[in-house]
Amino acid sequence: MKADLKEIYARNIRLTTEAYDFLEKNEISQSAYQQILSYGSPLITKEILEEILAKEEKIPIQPVMVARPPSFKPEAKEHSPDFRVIDRSDITGKSHCTGKLEDFVEHFRNRFDRVSKILRMRPSDRPIVDTKRLKSNGSAPVRLIAMVTEKRTTKKGNILLTVEDKEGSAKVVLPRESEAFKLAGKILNDDIIAFDGRNAEELFICETVTWPEIPFARELKKAESDFAIVYLSDLHFGSKKFMEKEFARFLNWLNGEGESRLLQSLAGKVKYIIISGDVVDGIGIYPEQERELLVKDIYKQYELFDSAMEQIPDYITVFVLPGNHDAVRRAEPQPALPEDLVKSNVVRVGNPCQVEIEGLRHLLYHGNSLDSVIAGMGELSYEHPEEAMLELLRRRHLSPIYGDNLIVPEAHDYLVIEEEPDIIHMGHVHKNGYMVYRGTLLVNSGTFQERTDYQVRIGHQPTPAIVPVLEAKEGKLSHINFKGEAGEGTS
Ligand SMILES: [Fe+2]
Repeated sequence: MKADLKEIYARNIRLTTEAYDFLEKNEISQSAYQQILSYGSPLITKEILEEILAKEEKIPIQPVMVARPPSFKPEAKEHSPDFRVIDRSDITGKSHCTGKLEDFVEHFRNRFDRVSKILRMRPSDRPIVDTKRLKSNGSAPVRLIAMVTEKRTTKKGNILLTVEDKEGSAKVVLPRESEAFKLAGKILNDDIIAFDGRNAEELFICETVTWPEIPFARELKKAESDFAIVYLSDLHFGSKKFMEKEFARFLNWLNGEGESRLLQSLAGKVKYIIISGDVVDGIGIYPEQERELLVKDIYKQYELFDSAMEQIPDYITVFVLPGNHDAVRRAEPQPALPEDLVKSNVVRVGNPCQVEIEGLRHLLYHGNSLDSVIAGMGELSYEHPEEAMLELLRRRHLSPIYGDNLIVPEAHDYLVIEEEPDIIHMGHVHKNGYMVYRGTLLVNSGTFQERTDYQVRIGHQPTPAIVPVLEAKEGKLSHINFKGEAGEGTS
């Protein structure tokens, strides 16, 4: 008896003679076996087997072919692409880390140096001290720059922090009546913060706290030429919940099949598309994912993605970075998707990565750390991913809480936001969100995956098939809903 048949019997599932004969004589896929095991019937008949196998065969090979109306004259076709992938922000081909203790020490030193340098540039009338020189100024007002390692509430209701820098550690108190206390809910583990206060014996009494932030006096940057950028993420090709019909509508729109003249003219401006991770659903990403997969072969998932990319007009430059569902290492920074997986003509970049498009500096990141920041800060929620993105920008770090999502301790911390971006683009939470903060545009581009069972269980309502489009010359962000009526929202 075949091993798989033995397993069926071992699970107390019985087969009719016809079903047994069929399985004995024919090879069926592992996923079909899994479906027999999880079918929920103590007796599997030939009819049930046929039902399972029929489902298996319904794997789409090609997305819908698009038609290009001859009247569509896209202006973006006449416009030469002008972009630069900023090499020093991308790990691809540069990872030398072996995960030794010294690697972690070097990694955190690098992070501390670069984030505290931003804090040192912030204007302050107080002298900056480190934990070693804390007592040298007596009880005069000073600014201490350090990393938070512990936060707790004292019996008197004050907040007590343990902080560290390269010289040592200190205890910082945020008294209940202080400005700093009001901001205590925002203080996360591993935050690098400037504490303004004064030394008092064994404690540092803190009055206010300052995160690295970005400067006030900035305006939303606009491009000189008239073109548009489309922001996508979390397509999840291969998932049963991938919205094939809606994605085909998106492709048709790009090819000039817009429902109105306005939408057609917007499509004609699209010169760049950025896809911020989770292009496929992947394999073995979470327990029992197999049940949710329509395509159980990772290469076939990427083939589907490639064939969809081939439907995009060739004058459009497409950038693709990986997410936590993609087939590269899970830990960040993630290298670009390899050429043997993504074969279509796209620009493959790492996660995170910086790309300058016609003068607009983009910071691209899939958004894994949004989960830990939302969990760590009570006032945030999945309803407004842009607010969680803002907290990353304020900290000048894409994954501030160590340990909550996997990182590789590279000697250079690729997740530090060293330069102020004009646009930050993320995905991961499957919910659209937009914000302009001190001249930086924050975009979360949602998904093309329908609500999953997991999202139903946790009460998360995604916003699938809504695509943000930036008209770069005007600095105008619209979004198009490919699920229902075409609509617009502006930032
Ligand atoms: Fe995703």
